[in-house]
Amino acid sequence: MTERNDGLEQRFALAQELAVEAGAMALDYFNKRDSLVIETKRDLQDVVSIADRNVETMLRERVAATFSGDGFLGEEHGYDDGVSGYTWVVDPIDGTAPFVNGMPSWCVSIAVVREGKPVIGVIRVPCADETYASAEGHGATLNGRRLTLDPSRNIQNALTGIGSNNYVTPERVGRIISDVMARGGNFIRNGSGALMLAYVAAGRLVGYYEPHMRAWDCMAGFCLVKEAGGQVMPFSLEGEKLFEGQPVLAGNTSCYQELVEIHQTGLAA
Ligand code: IPD
Ligand code: CA
Ligand code: CA
Repeated sequence: MTERNDGLEQRFALAQELAVEAGAMALDYFNKRDSLVIETKRDLQDVVSIADRNVETMLRERVAATFSGDGFLGEEHGYDDGVSGYTWVVDPIDGTAPFVNGMPSWCVSIAVVREGKPVIGVIRVPCADETYASAEGHGATLNGRRLTLDPSRNIQNALTGIGSNNYVTPERVGRIISDVMARGGNFIRNGSGALMLAYVAAGRLVGYYEPHMRAWDCMAGFCLVKEAGGQVMPFSLEGEKLFEGQPVLAGNTSCYQELVEIHQTGLAA
């Protein structure tokens, strides 16, 4: 193992193990969701429950027990700085809205970043029994099967994932969707941006675009898409940017430029 890759393999193994464990824990809450108390955060659409918090706490404790020098950023409990150069970036449940409403499109998203980029990305989808796993230089897999993007897929002959939340105006979201359709494409949204990024890596979607998401929503998906041969728009993790919402765009190289144009058109709305 080179010095540069020191510890990557061990962290990749732990990320996969923890994703399965966290997925099982979240699935247990999902199956008993009638008894969950649903709270709101920023507004009535921004929901959370004890499931999100407890799954993140478990992940935080397990990472600290093995890699005490690693940083950790999670959606529910914030940021702990590290000293090793590795930072875990975790969304314990991405797709909380589908989760609390009884739909299966939610996942556990675990990334590890180093030097400003994701070097590990693992997404576990308990309701589909799917594990998407990737690490820098190791490729991307779905339940152990290697993922490689097909360059003949494009906006016109495949589906594009579009995400939205109320950090952006309805007009801008409308403009983005109109643009995808005007180009002869169609869009889909399943309520989990992280899962739709995994779908890009799996070739189920040709691309994903959402104007405003946080690092914990997209880092694992970015690693997966890159390792499957796709392209992602730069997302800064420097300083306060680590905590800020930024545009998230990833796709097959065949449609990357067109997605960037759709992003730019939306900015004008
Ligand atoms: C949300 C989901 C959703 C996306 C939002 C995210 P959460 O994360 O990924 O698809 O549109 O921007 O905040 O709240 O379910 O963890
Ligand atoms: Ca999320
Ligand atoms: Ca979440």
